[in-house]
Amino acid sequence: MSIVTQLDHPMLQHKLTLLRSKDTCSKDFRNIVKEIAILMAYEVTRNFPLEEIEIETPIAKMKSKIVSGKTVAIVPILRAGLGMVDGVLEVIPAAKVGHVGLYRNEETLTPVEYYFKMPKDIEQRTVIITEPMCATGGSIIAAVNLLKNRGVKNIKVMCLVVAEPGIKAVEAVHPDIEIFTVGYDKELNERGYITPGLGDAGDRLFGTK
Ligand code: URA
Repeated sequence: MSIVTQLDHPMLQHKLTLLRSKDTCSKDFRNIVKEIAILMAYEVTRNFPLEEIEIETPIAKMKSKIVSGKTVAIVPILRAGLGMVDGVLEVIPAAKVGHVGLYRNEETLTPVEYYFKMPKDIEQRTVIITEPMCATGGSIIAAVNLLKNRGVKNIKVMCLVVAEPGIKAVEAVHPDIEIFTVGYDKELNERGYITPGLGDAGDRLFGTK
């Protein structure tokens, strides 16, 4: 079974098309990434376990369901992953946020770690990594390695676009995680960019280039 779930909701596909277009400016790109993250978070949390608690409505006592256990940490891979954090927090406001700093060496295309800061009970939480682009898969593999070394057992990844080579690479090392994505592209170009992709997600989010 594949570790990837491609979300095909019409609104997600529509919003991804807007992101892919080179005519979408940074301000709109940022807003649309947040909207997509909200819609994706709804799907990513679909199988969260529930427990019943006793409450009292203004009318009567009842048993009602809440999400059970210590819940979620959102872990953006800096910097592009930051663009999806606010959207996930809209759906899971009590989530803690850790940060993994990885940049891509543009010659070797391998990730280099420069920052790692997590909530102290990270191993008890379901971790949702946010990383808009899974190109070679290198940054996701590195982030998952770091989290597993800290005892994290339940890891989900939210991407906007993944490429087949990246997914194969992640799947080979971490077959126990789940990756959610809206776009699923076939290949990378000679500079390691997803093709057709949407360009450099960090540059488009933050208006750098
Ligand atoms: N990172 C990006 O932002 N875009 C790509 O296409 C690949 C890696």
